[in-house]
Amino acid sequence: MKAISCVFVLILGVALGQDPNFIVGVGIEDVTGPAADVNMMGYAHPGQTSRGIHTRLYSRAFIFCEVDNPDKCEVFVVVDFAMGATAINIGVFERLKTLYGSMYTEKNVAICGTHTHSGPAGYLQYFVFDATSQGFVHDAYDNLVEGIFQSIRIAHENRAPSFVYHNTGELLDANINRSPSAYEANPANERARYTHDVDKVMTVLKILGEDMSDRGLISFFPVHPVSMNNTNRLLSSDNKGYASYMIEMEKNPGTFHGQGDFVAAFANTNQGDVSPNLEGAKCLDTGEDCDRITSTCNGRTALCVGVGPGKDMFESTKIIGERQANKAMELYDSATHLLDGTVGFVHQHVNMTDFDVKLDGGGTVKTCKGAFGYSLRSATDGGVFPFTQSETETMPYLEVLRDALLSTPSAELVACQAPKPVLLPIGEMHTPWEWAPAIIDTQMLRLGEFVMIVVPAEFSTMAGRRLRETITDYLENDGLSGAEAEIVGLSNTYSDYVVTEEEYQTQRYEAASTIFGPNTLRAYQQQYTYLSEKLMDGSQPTQGPPIPNLLAEMGTTLADPEGDEDDVNIVTGLGPKIGELIMDTDDKYRQGGVAMATFIAGNPRNDVFRMRDDTFLKVQRRVVPGSNWNDVYTDADFCTRFLWDRASTSRRGGSVSHATVVWDIPLDQTLGTYRLAHKGYRKDSVKGIYSVTKKAIPLPLKCVASYTEDRTSSSS
Ligand SMILES: *[C@@H]1O[C@H](CO)[C@@H](O)[C@H](O)[C@H]1NC(C)=O
Ligand SMILES: *[C@@H]1O[C@H](CO)[C@@H](O)[C@H](O)[C@H]1NC(C)=O
Repeated sequence: MKAISCVFVLILGVALGQDPNFIVGVGIEDVTGPAADVNMMGYAHPGQTSRGIHTRLYSRAFIFCEVDNPDKCEVFVVVDFAMGATAINIGVFERLKTLYGSMYTEKNVAICGTHTHSGPAGYLQYFVFDATSQGFVHDAYDNLVEGIFQSIRIAHENRAPSFVYHNTGELLDANINRSPSAYEANPANERARYTHDVDKVMTVLKILGEDMSDRGLISFFPVHPVSMNNTNRLLSSDNKGYASYMIEMEKNPGTFHGQGDFVAAFANTNQGDVSPNLEGAKCLDTGEDCDRITSTCNGRTALCVGVGPGKDMFESTKIIGERQANKAMELYDSATHLLDGTVGFVHQHVNMTDFDVKLDGGGTVKTCKGAFGYSLRSATDGGVFPFTQSETETMPYLEVLRDALLSTPSAELVACQAPKPVLLPIGEMHTPWEWAPAIIDTQMLRLGEFVMIVVPAEFSTMAGRRLRETITDYLENDGLSGAEAEIVGLSNTYSDYVVTEEEYQTQRYEAASTIFGPNTLRAYQQQYTYLSEKLMDGSQPTQGPPIPNLLAEMGTTLADPEGDEDDVNIVTGLGPKIGELIMDTDDKYRQGGVAMATFIAGNPRNDVFRMRDDTFLKVQRRVVPGSNWNDVYTDADFCTRFLWDRASTSRRGGSVSHATVVWDIPLDQTLGTYRLAHKGYRKDSVKGIYSVTKKAIPLPLKCVASYTEDRTSSSS
């Protein structure tokens, strides 16, 4: 009896003995965006434009406030997009200001990307990031701003006293280093301090309500969400999104695709050189390992790709997602360490092209204006010819091309960036608008002993370790005992990569993309040490130089969608109309099978806003007895795919779209009668006018009808 009551006290001691340590709000909102014809952000592959949906994309927001000071808050947002971006923050802060005044600003709000490479591009403000998306994509941008803002608004509205716990543990089988030869350039005695060449520790924050109900989870773990490779044309939240999906499904039972009160976010950390493709880089043609130093196969970059662990990219996404989700749940379930309830935040803009780094031995060195080296665009997670890794020689014919088309780097820039051979001096390129950032955001958010080092870039493993250690030591010495610092990458603005000075010498992809030169990491160590000092003494640094707002300058050559046409013969008027079925399902399927149906459709880019929080497809099950149908899956579910393609260009100047609904029937799917449904918006072409100029004149976006077409099939 005595032993039992002892256990009883131990379990509930946390709950009954303590008051909630924070006031917390959690919110989630759809940010999927244009599912057709828009380039995807990440691989910078102009041909990789969207053609449907694998999974929906979400913004997940968390607000933490002090219990005794409920207006002292910080906001942490994790978005299923490639990276945080200045233009997005400008838009979101404007919206926040109209509703909340000065409560949520750039000082206390961090907006971070999971780094999925399968979300819409064209929302970043510097030209180099919009070059492959035909410039700025308004619908992608507006949709992200609105969705992120809404997720914060929802979190604001449900703020309530809550318990926030911190836990860490190792996840060994979900990431590898994709540039091990660069990692090995770091000093042997430094490497000897670590068992692995990537960080394996996952950090989890667990949020419980006052009544100990589950409210939310945030995981921090370094891995590129590039399980979906550069041949993928479907919007996808990749492995981090799948991890969120799994946990939200489990914690929000009885809801659709897991959308409920519980929110699980998977943030990224120092993932610069970290790949989920566990079998490493292989040659597509021979299956052999690629050349270790150059990551080529027979001299070609495009043939060398990271693969595994699944049989295809969908399975790899699932496996890497599942491993992160399972570890996160294990850490969630076993978390007992309640954080001290202090909220703290510091933020400063910095001109990263002009930073004086003070050396330990005296003297200073500088950062440089932005430039890419020749190993640009050659990552093993999706490289493009003719760039190869570890390129320290210049390529004369490319230089001629660059000088003719673009810009010759100044001698000062070349000297500053050495030994990087400068291919694109993006910091010196200003047309059609600024190519590269100079002013970046630096920020830290504190929750008790847990401190987020919010960085505007992708840090390599060792660069992240050095920064984390510098900051942890500083905080400990300044009286924050038990300080746990974590890098939060891809936040607020994007300035490519940061590697160590030693890695920089190798000029692999990550080093070639360290745009501010060899001293970038030391500059960040110095800057975040300064921010730590401010964080601990409770003062705000000066704001720093203002972030430029380029929204008015950003142009686009991406046309609006054409009008949608029925697939009818122009003379006879016969043929399928929008919403009609052109490929039916089979009559019977087995569990594990794939059901599919194709409809004449509209372009899914027609109504990005109305389709937010909606679905282009439904899998429905017949209610027995009766003739009603229950929704079972939507396009947010992992077992469905919505495929879109332009079937032909209509003779009348519009286009005919095909929409295909695909359902991978789960092995444990309940037997019954199911049907597949598709829904969307069409854009009306003005009847009778079919001159060639019609394409050039943007048609008003007229959503005349929401068409739906259902079809019955049975499964037994
Ligand atoms: C992408 O993955 C698919 C399998 O899902 C594979 O067939 C293809 O070769 C891969 N391509 C690249 C470039 O990685
Ligand atoms: C940033 O620094 C560079 C290099 O000194 C300078 O040319 C540029 O004007 C600075 N930008 C701003 C906005 O201060």
